[in-house]
Amino acid sequence: MIVTKYVFQPHGDARGQLVALEEFKDIPFRIKRVYYMYETLEGVARGHHAHKSLQQILVCIHGCCKIRLDNGKEKKVIPLEKPYEGLYVPNAMWREMFDFSPDAVLMVLASELYDEADYIRDYEEFLEFAENCGDAAEAEGVEEK
Ligand code: TYD
Repeated sequence: MIVTKYVFQPHGDARGQLVALEEFKDIPFRIKRVYYMYETLEGVARGHHAHKSLQQILVCIHGCCKIRLDNGKEKKVIPLEKPYEGLYVPNAMWREMFDFSPDAVLMVLASELYDEADYIRDYEEFLEFAENCGDAAEAEGVEEK
């Protein structure tokens, strides 16, 4: 399983840092929705679902958290601790977000509007979907873009 982490370009100067994200340039899809999680309580894990077609980029813009990705065959845990890093989460990928620091703000850029019909919330159903979806790559590692 290949995990794609985007390393965004910070525009730093004497005043501090700034990161700009543009669709199709820094982000590989049209950004139709942005949402973020904050004040996540200690010990909480969120997510526990996959999407049929939605793609996302997760950016922990403050604090840190961990993301567990599962393509139905393999699982990987990716820490997010830098505001200039984005984790690409394709469709057909089960995800869990956990280990949030008390100050964590996890921002999600999404390719589609909120649509409950795109969610797969049952793990067995996800395994079946992932199996029929075909594997894009059997390659291994963390790819930085
Ligand atoms: P939920 O799917 O439980 O979040 P997570 O995947 O992080 O566990 O969403 C929490 C609530 O927010 C739920 O009532 C649906 C609502 N929601 C929206 O209205 N729009 C959105 O874009 C998202 C992601 C959630």
